[in-house]
Formats: sequence, C-alpha cells, structure tokens
Amino acid sequence: MDISKIQNLKNQAISAVLEAQSDDELERLRIAYLGRKGEITQLLKTIPSLSASEKKEIGQSINDAKKAIEQAIKDTKKSQQTQKIDFDQEWLDVTAPGKRPAVGHLHLVTETIEEITDIFEKIGFTRKTYPEVEWDWYSFGALNMPENHPARDDWETLYLDKLKHQKYGRAVLTPHTSSGQIREMEQQKPPIRMLNIAKCYRRQADVSHAPMFYQFETLVVDKDINITHLKGTLDYFARQYFGKDRKTRIRPFHFQFTEPSFEIDVTCIVCGGQGCPVCKDGWLELGGAGMVHPLVLKHGGIDPEKYSGFASGFGVERVLMMKYGLDDIRLLFNGDLRFLNQF
Ligand code: DAH
Repeated sequence: MDISKIQNLKNQAISAVLEAQSDDELERLRIAYLGRKGEITQLLKTIPSLSASEKKEIGQSINDAKKAIEQAIKDTKKSQQTQKIDFDQEWLDVTAPGKRPAVGHLHLVTETIEEITDIFEKIGFTRKTYPEVEWDWYSFGALNMPENHPARDDWETLYLDKLKHQKYGRAVLTPHTSSGQIREMEQQKPPIRMLNIAKCYRRQADVSHAPMFYQFETLVVDKDINITHLKGTLDYFARQYFGKDRKTRIRPFHFQFTEPSFEIDVTCIVCGGQGCPVCKDGWLELGGAGMVHPLVLKHGGIDPEKYSGFASGFGVERVLMMKYGLDDIRLLFNGDLRFLNQF
C-alpha cells in the first residue's frame, strides 16, 4: 500500500460526493467508501498488520481520508438542504412594509455647535476656525500673559515637546479659543464679527471637565463698541438658546486680555431665577467676557485709539449641559448609545 493510492482514492471519493445529486446517491457513496465493506473500511482493517513505521504514515493517511470523505458528505447534504426551495410553499407579500434601516443622527455636541452657529450668524457673525495646535504667542503672549505669568496656571496647558517657533515660542494644544482673537485681527480689518468654535485641551478630567472640550468665542471690533453691545449680544444668545425668558448678568472678574472683564451668568434653567439647590441664588455661570484690552488690539495690528471691541468665551458642553440638565460631561464623550439615542 502506498500513500499516493490512498490520496487518489480519497480524491475520487470526494469528487463523486460533490457531484452527487441526491441524498440517495450520497448514501450509496457513503456505503461504497465507508460502509462495512467499503473501500476505506477495508484499508483501515489492514492497519494492524502494518509495521510500526508504516502504521504511523499510512495509518494516519487512511484515517485522514476517512475523515475528509465524512466531512464532504456532511457538507454536501447541508448545502443541498439550503438550496432546496419548495415553490408551492414560498410566499411573498409585496405590500408588507419594509424593514427600516437603522439611521444615526448627529452627536449632541455637533448639533449644539450648529445651533450656536445659526444663532450668531443671524446677527452678522462669521464662523471661523484657527489652528488646533497653536504657538504660545497666540494662546498666551499676545493675550497679555508673557512666559511665567501666574495667570497661565488657570489654563492647565498641554505643550508639545518638539515644536518651537523662534519668535512665537512653544507649540501648545489650544487651551482656549481666545487664541483665535489675534489670528482674526491679523486676517481681517474691522469691522470684525468673529465666531470661533473649536476644540480645546487642558490637563483636567472630572464630572464637569474633559481633557478635550469645545469653546465658542465671539470677537467684535469696530468703532465705538461698548459694554452695551456685549450685554445685548449675550442676552440675545441666552434667549435664543435657552428660551425667551432667560436673562444674563455681567459680574466683574479678571482676565488678562480684557479690560474690564466679566463673568456672565444666566438665570437658572431649573427655577427660572428664584433660587434652587442647583443654582443657589438664581444664577448659573456661562463663561467669561470683556472689552478687548488695548494691548491685545495692538498685538492684532489694530489701533486702539480708533477701534474698540468685546470678546466672550463659553464652553459648548457647558451650555448644552445646562440646557438639558446633564450633570456629567463624560456622558458626551464615551459613545454610550443608551445615552445618545435619547437626543
Ligand atoms: N478664554 C477664557 C477661558 O478659557 C474665556 C474668556 C474670557 C474668553 C474672557 C474671552 C473673554 O473672550 O473676553 O477661560
């Protein structure tokens, strides 16, 4: 007995199986090869009389052939079953409603960005985007925060090790959208009505802070711009975004790049400004704003004697969370569909 004969027998059996047209024919082939007197069975019977070394090689090959033929019969039976269609039993209702494919929707943060854009575009703002990896100068220096200035500590900035500009300093992941103020002034002569919505990065992570988040920044520069323009614009935003009964208030604060500077509060969404456990005194903080510092205008190439401006910077997730009453920013970034499908 040699191996090639066994191989030939196996191949012959398998091709016969593959061509078989019916279960009867398959059964006949099974008996012919694997039945009590089948060809493979006969070979199996010779194994005990083989020498030890032959047993290993030839015995193995006979057993393989047996398994391969069994498998081929099984597979062929299965595929014949699935192909069998009984046309008398087949039923098709062409009027049955189709299965709706699952359709996704924009992420809540994206929707909010579009909503904010619409609100500001209606009053003449233009949406801009500026570099996400920015030089130190645009993020801090030009905004009156020279190197080692303590005010920088509030920004928990992520620096890039390898990138450094001779004039503009180290590269950072933009820690706020205010860096867009200088870029905008360099690009666009007044009148300026900029809306910069962008990703920001800071070394922070808890229920109300994510290491990557969005801010939206307004910058208006023109002749005779004053605080009433700032207040009116932010009131308009609050009414459009949160509802017509909302009011804002400006509270004195300090930023290096505005003078005077404010924090902006909005009447509480939960109690309408009466005072409740969420807001305590009826107000919730929206973000920062102020009149653009004359030095910042100068750094942007604008003459502060001729022009003045206001700026504001709010968190996109922050306003969104206030509107929907969310208490954990991480819900917005962990991709959990049970949460996202509710919007
Ligand atoms: N950039 C500030 C921050 O990230 C927010 C801010 C404050 C933006 C005052 C402004 C502004 O435009 O005038 O906390």
